[in-house]
Amino acid sequence: MRHHWLLLGVCGWALLILVFVGKFITFRSVDDYGDRGVQSWTGPGPNPVKAAAVDVPENQNPKPPDRPTLPPLDPEWHSVNEKRIELLTSMCRNSSINNLTHVSISKFVLDRIFVCDKHKILFCQTPKVGNTQWKKVLIVLNGQFPTVDDVPEELVHAHDRNGLHRLSSLTPQEISHRLNTYFKFLIVRDPFERLISAFKDKFGQNPRDEPWYKRDIAPVIIRKYRKSHQDGEVTASGLHFEDFVRYLGDVALRRRRMDQQFGAPIIHWVTYTELCAPCEIQYSVVGHHETLEKDAPYILHAAGVEGLVSYPSFPPDITRYNRTKVEQYFSGISKQDIRRLFARYQSDFHLFGYPRPDFLLN
Ligand SMILES: *[C@@H]1O[C@H](CO)[C@@H](O)[C@H](O)[C@H]1NC(C)=O
Ligand SMILES: *[C@@H]1O[C@H](CO)[C@@H](O)[C@H](O)[C@H]1NC(C)=O
Ligand SMILES: *[C@@H]1O[C@H](CO)[C@@H](O)[C@H](O)[C@H]1NC(C)=O
Repeated sequence: MRHHWLLLGVCGWALLILVFVGKFITFRSVDDYGDRGVQSWTGPGPNPVKAAAVDVPENQNPKPPDRPTLPPLDPEWHSVNEKRIELLTSMCRNSSINNLTHVSISKFVLDRIFVCDKHKILFCQTPKVGNTQWKKVLIVLNGQFPTVDDVPEELVHAHDRNGLHRLSSLTPQEISHRLNTYFKFLIVRDPFERLISAFKDKFGQNPRDEPWYKRDIAPVIIRKYRKSHQDGEVTASGLHFEDFVRYLGDVALRRRRMDQQFGAPIIHWVTYTELCAPCEIQYSVVGHHETLEKDAPYILHAAGVEGLVSYPSFPPDITRYNRTKVEQYFSGISKQDIRRLFARYQSDFHLFGYPRPDFLLN
């Protein structure tokens, strides 16, 4: 009889834990990564740093499964980053692309850079490259929450409440002091894949809670760039990737006039060069989305905050470059439109060592 009760109790507990874990995972599955289908890796778990230190034998102390930490620091990664910085420096000096790589450190750029004074870190935000996670890392480093899992989703983007200051909020002296002495980093990914991610996120099937992209921006782009359209059909069919490519590749003057209509340049598809001024600001580390599982531990190490915070673990193949996807999106788009797009984004390819996509251009 006692056995029955015990069994029932154990089953009850197991069920409760399952329900709890399940809820937690669905709640967490919306994130900054463009590819929304594959996000369960952002799932929960207690602080992985603590979890690694305490070795609790299984089935003694039931609790939700720990999220694994990223692999440890790769000793090679220091030289990988050095090569990236060398390439960046030499490309910034290359006079044949000078007019594309140099921008001023404007308020627009200073708005993109987040400050962690406590640990002397500056982070330049490049949308569609997993920024939410890095912002959480900085919020934790600022001391507001013990781990990235404790930072509420809605707080990450609430810049009036999350204690994450932008560089633009400081005085010119404070800004130059930080630019000269702090650890500075940004993350980039293949420029065309990033545009696909932005397109899916803002104009795709399930856009996030930002209706104005589909409602206000898409019709303006369609009217101007779709080869043939009837007005009634404009909003019904939605923005095609082809319209988007033609808009982005248009000559600067016409594009700027469009952006004025939208109110401001839209950070989701402005080049990394315009967002972060990588030829004017000497970044300490350039992380690549494609190798984030190596870059994240390296960045924490190089910034001197290893052990204070951890970047959530994820399966590496979800950040890998997917040529098939890129080919699919660009299939049917004219070479001329793709070449114009490349001309606009070439500084991002050159500065960060992404190969020219000849399979699309030739
Ligand atoms: C400068 O950039 C152009 C265009 O990418 C390239 O062809 C050339 O080799 C570069 N020159 C140097 C010295 O790196
Ligand atoms: C940059 O300069 C080259 C000539 O050196 C020119 O062909 C190109 O249009 C210029 N690009 C921009 C964005 O001004
Ligand atoms: C690459 O993209 C294609 C098309 O979107 C998809 O079917 C495939 O699963 C992707 N491959 C990987 C490894 O994610």
